[in-house]
Amino acid sequence: MLVWSKIISVNEKSFVEERFLSMAQTNAVIKRLSGSQKLQVEVYLENENEAQGLKKELGGKVNKLEYKNWANINASSNRPLIKIRDKILITDNSDSKELKKIKIRYPKKIVISIPAALAFGTGDHATTSTCLRMLVDIAKDHQKKKKQWSLCDIGLGTGILPITASLMGAFKVEGFDFDPEALVIAKRNMVINSIDDINIYEQDLFDWSPKRGKTWNVITANIFANVLNPNLKKIWSLVSQNGHLLLSGILKEHHDSILKNAKNNGLPIPELYCKGKWVSFKFNKC
Ligand SMILES: C[S@@+](CC[C@H](N)C(=O)[O-])C[C@H]1O[C@@H](n2cnc3c(N)ncnc32)[C@H](O)[C@@H]1O
Repeated sequence: MLVWSKIISVNEKSFVEERFLSMAQTNAVIKRLSGSQKLQVEVYLENENEAQGLKKELGGKVNKLEYKNWANINASSNRPLIKIRDKILITDNSDSKELKKIKIRYPKKIVISIPAALAFGTGDHATTSTCLRMLVDIAKDHQKKKKQWSLCDIGLGTGILPITASLMGAFKVEGFDFDPEALVIAKRNMVINSIDDINIYEQDLFDWSPKRGKTWNVITANIFANVLNPNLKKIWSLVSQNGHLLLSGILKEHHDSILKNAKNNGLPIPELYCKGKWVSFKFNKC
């Protein structure tokens, strides 16, 4: 694997974005250099000619990507634990001895291991952590009322939401993603967390049509508004009476479109949570 990289000024950002988005390239990353107004663009390529072609066209440099044993690195990571309410601790450590130590140190908490991987959802992103908080509150409420509950997660990424639901006592949990890589990672995370009762499958939300009459007490979807909006009516129809729909991953500038769409389709006014540039919604079905 090769990486072509170049330091660019902020003024060049839109040119670079257009250049690589128009190539439909998903292997490009643009990041701001800390303490500087400059940005670094990186494009990951298998092909030497393509990499050298970019260098010839735009300058910059081509390097071989250093091989790292991510499995070992993740297993011994020192990332601080992520706390969700007073109940959940998320670690990216997957070493069984280390996990045992964390569980002994925090006997009253549920410890969840989600190592960093090529799927979204390690718990430190605002959209995931807001969903997790809403989920923990719902789980506690069901525990208090001694009521069983089911969950379906749309776009499961690492599987962090269904794994949390299962460990918080949900009796029937499922989730799907259209990315086969996400399924591999979610299945691995189920094994790491000693869970075998989550039904996960490959599915595109746009083609999703569950059996007639099937509903879930909780549906979660941490996905962009342009994916949620065309599917909102369908998703809402699959939430049980007295159930909840948790939406996250919506940029502030798109949250009006969700509210308008929700109103047009008879959804109630949601509870709204903002974190940075992200908005999350909790719709309660009466
Ligand atoms: C932002 S991640 C959320 C991951 C995790 N649920 C969380 O809350 O951290 C969105 C996930 O949705 C998946 N996704 C996007 N569009 C989808 C679609 N049309 N059908 C199914 N999955 C989709 C992506 O592959 C990605 O894994």
